[in-house]
Order: sequence, then C-alpha cells, then structure tokens
Amino acid sequence: MDEKDMGTDLAKVLISKEEIDAKLAELAELIDRDYAGRDLLIVGVLKGAVMVMADLARTLHSPVTMDWMAVSSYGMGTKSSGVVRILKDLDTDINGRDVLIVEDIIDSGLTLSWLLSNLQSRGPASLEVCTLLRKPDAAKVSIDVKYVGFDIPNEFVVGYGLDYAEKYRNLPFVGTLAPHVYGG
Ligand code: XMP
Ligand code: MG
Repeated sequence: MDEKDMGTDLAKVLISKEEIDAKLAELAELIDRDYAGRDLLIVGVLKGAVMVMADLARTLHSPVTMDWMAVSSYGMGTKSSGVVRILKDLDTDINGRDVLIVEDIIDSGLTLSWLLSNLQSRGPASLEVCTLLRKPDAAKVSIDVKYVGFDIPNEFVVGYGLDYAEKYRNLPFVGTLAPHVYGG
C-alpha cells in the first residue's frame, strides 16, 4: 500500500519511508555499539511494532534473538486506559538476559510503564526501550527511553505498523488521516 492507494484518506505524510530507513540505520548503529559482544533479546510489542522490529532487526549487524508480546490498553477508543492486559506473553525466560523493548509509539506512556515494571520483575540483566515515535505527553511519565526515533506532535498517526480501526498498518510511511475518515 502506498500514498497512491490512499485516495482522499491521507491528510499528510509526516515521516517518509526514506526518513524512517535513515533513522533506523542510526539507531541500529547505536544498538550494535552498546550491545557489542552481548546476547541481545529484542522484544516487539504487537501489533504496532511489527514493521519497526522487522526493519530494525535487518539493519542490525549483531545476531539478536527476537520475541513478541501482545498487550491491550486501549479497549475500543483512541485513549490509553492504563489498564493493561497481556494477550500474548513472551516465549522466552528473560531472567539474566539483556532485553530491549521495541515500540512503535509512546503516547501517554502508560502501556510502557506497565510493561517495564512487569518485565523488570522477571529479573533481566538489563532492560531498555527503543521506540520509533514519541508524543509530547510521554514527558509526563518519567520513563527512560534510551533510543528514540522521532518526537512527533500530538496528532493521531497511522502507517508503518500503526492503525486506525486496524487499517493503514501496511503504509510504508507515517502519516495523518483526513478528518472525514474519523467521521468528522
Ligand atoms: P500509551 O498512551 O499507553 O499508548 O503510551 C501506546 C500505544 O497506543 C497506541 N497509540 C497509537 N496508535 N496512532 C496509532 O495508531 C497513534 O497516534 C497512537 N498513539 C498511541 C499504540 O499501539 C501504542 O503502542
Ligand atoms: Mg504499540
């Protein structure tokens, strides 16, 4: 799917595929350097982080292992409820492991704070976070995010894994939707 397939649904491209690729290359270089000689486990948070995981992992030179978690925090709305449920847990025992959580976006930060304390209680050797996108509200919760792709304005974004009502995840870029899509 591409801009051409969007009809009138797209308001604008916020971050192009080329910008995403360049940023992931930068982040991968930092991660390769920081974890050199270690046995890194990267954990993707489904479903949004699928694209970031796939592209970041292919950009890394280090041989990482990959695992997935699925959590739900939104119910049907577009606001985080803070109540997080595990829909799919890790297959890996992370006790004593170096773990890097890979996220698509940190908005309120509620999901991530919950996830961090949940995973921390399992005794990893280290636990860090890499996110492609971060919104301004994330500053309100004190979570230390080691690798951030882009700080973006407080707009609802779709594409590159991010959805609106499960659509638009397969856009190769991050964009915003035209108001009529939201029923506006
Ligand atoms: P919180 O608010 O807990 O939310 O940091 C994180 C999760 O909420 C989803 N999310 C979005 N999804 N466009 C989306 O498609 C957005 O603008 C957006 N903001 C938050 C996302 O699943 C993220 O992991
Ligand atoms: Mg997510």
